[in-house]
Amino acid sequence: MRHNLSGITKITGMVAALALSGVVVSCVKENDPVAQNGVTGAIAKLLGGDSSQTKVQYVPDMADSPTLKPQENFLEPPEGSVATTAMLYPKTVEEAEASLKNPLPAEPQVLALGEKTFNTFCIPCHGAAAKGDGSITDIYPKPPDITSEAYQKRGDGFFFYRITFGANIMPGYGHATMPHERWATVHYLRKLQGVSK
Ligand code: HEC
Repeated sequence: MRHNLSGITKITGMVAALALSGVVVSCVKENDPVAQNGVTGAIAKLLGGDSSQTKVQYVPDMADSPTLKPQENFLEPPEGSVATTAMLYPKTVEEAEASLKNPLPAEPQVLALGEKTFNTFCIPCHGAAAKGDGSITDIYPKPPDITSEAYQKRGDGFFFYRITFGANIMPGYGHATMPHERWATVHYLRKLQGVSK
């Protein structure tokens, strides 16, 4: 009972405070030329002028700042600058294969994520078992069987790079997937290949 009462008191207090602040804000706004006409309006009013007739701009409030047209570019970043959130990838597939290691363990959760990602992005072309017999291969060039021995021998970084950037006529999926989803897909591909790495 005591608990309930204090709750109600709290709510009543909050409602009263909100109502009061609303009144204060609206009062301030009504008498505030800055809220109505910006700094120029405030100065004009102080000097006794009519702000709608003001010809001289004092502190123009960014009214004349340069604007960009749609699709126009900002300045190019200085050479060599890197976004603080950027991930740097090796430049070539060979470098990727030699240097990248799968950071995720081949655990059930990871494999499930890999399966989901594969079945979302890869299945139409590569087929459910990655044999290259996806449902659109009657109209799109047939991909290779990526469970074959030649592909079993490729390093994890090779697959990660291919998923990220694509391969010849295969589109890349780096824009559509997070790095951990791609690494999970690599684990799932290993499962389809029957190889554990
Ligand atoms: C639109 C169809 C399509 C989709 C979707 C697709 N691929 Fe491919 N993939 C291809 C084709 C076609 C090739 C053969 C490319 C070539 O060599 O020209 C290929 C090649 C590959 C290769 C071999 C690359 C090489 O250098 O030998 C791998 C690995 C691969 N795909 C993995 C994937 C994975 C994983 C996904 C899903 C994230 C995916 N692909 C999605 C069509 C597709």
